[in-house]
Amino acid sequence: MNGEELLTTLDKGKKEIHSSSTIENLEELRIKWLGRSGIINKNLETIKNIPADQKKEFGQKVNSVKKEIETLLDTKKNELLQANESEKKIDITLPGTPYPQGSLHIVTYAIEEISHIFERIGFIRMTYPEVEWEFFSFDSLNMPPQHPARDDFETFFIDFPAHKEYGKMVLSPHTSSGQNREMKRLGDPPVRMINIAKCYRPNWDTTHTPMFHQFEGVCIDRDINITQLKGTIDYFAKEFFGKDRETRLRPYHFQFTEPSFEVDITCDVCKGTGKVKKEKCKVCKSGWLELGGAGMMHPNVLRAGGIDPEKYTGWAFGIGVERVIMMKEGLKLDDLRIVYGGDIRFLEQF
Ligand code: FA5
Repeated sequence: MNGEELLTTLDKGKKEIHSSSTIENLEELRIKWLGRSGIINKNLETIKNIPADQKKEFGQKVNSVKKEIETLLDTKKNELLQANESEKKIDITLPGTPYPQGSLHIVTYAIEEISHIFERIGFIRMTYPEVEWEFFSFDSLNMPPQHPARDDFETFFIDFPAHKEYGKMVLSPHTSSGQNREMKRLGDPPVRMINIAKCYRPNWDTTHTPMFHQFEGVCIDRDINITQLKGTIDYFAKEFFGKDRETRLRPYHFQFTEPSFEVDITCDVCKGTGKVKKEKCKVCKSGWLELGGAGMMHPNVLRAGGIDPEKYTGWAFGIGVERVIMMKEGLKLDDLRIVYGGDIRFLEQF
């Protein structure tokens, strides 16, 4: 092959390499050109027949063709490898890579369910401030300045100048802080509120967290009495826990209700009998579990909210959201704090 023939063959080779569509075919072309008995070597062998004065020029031509073919083969190989890769990426028949899917927090689910249960009987869902004034958390609730709940062992006080009328700033220790705000918001009864909010107390043990949630029902109108309170709590218990659950009101003391009660619900494990196979029920010990507090609103509380207690009566209850979740899910948590620990192995179960 003389120099010119070599260039014509190179042109053909270029076209072959360009139109090559598989790595295997490219390998065949590599052998054809660069293999031991390939075109380049064959041409180098003919150098001995070339006249002495043309040897150098011919040798240089063959080498430059060799380099060009090598570069073309490398470039094409990379192209084909990349094309193979991207083909793999868009193979729609392959199963997709699943993304970890988040979900709502167990407490959020419970809050939604509780809201819907009360909305069905005409209670308006409210959320009152987490950062409150003493007046709403205590004074308006008939709790005198020396009441033990107002001690800083029981309540978080915020380092902020006191309000002239409302006193110090606190983290709301219970949802009852919303009672006065709701009465003032509406002006006149009827009031039917379900206030669900975060509450804060300096507690940290296996059954208490410094931040927790309560839901507070308030009903004020003419002729409101304990029967409706009992009926409403019963309705909630049956909707949330199941038809066979019973509730009871047990006398207690709260400063803002008179009379006051603790609300109990029959235990799901022993079905309210207090016994499992003739042994004392280990969950409740008595057949009953405590849900929260309740009572008829104290006349001073109604008065502080601008409502005449001679004309109107009302009741209120306050129940822990985390507590009802534990009872519903049948969770025997050794430690309530796990609910807020952020451990995905716990959270993803709900
Ligand atoms: C009260 O907070 C009253 N405000 C309830 C009330 C409202 C009574 C309206 C009368 C009328 P108590 O402190 O018992 O009551 O709290 C009620 C519920 O909140 C408890 O039964 C418990 O379920 C929950 N709770 C209280 N403190 C914590 C805490 N640190 N961690 C988790 N849950 C708590």
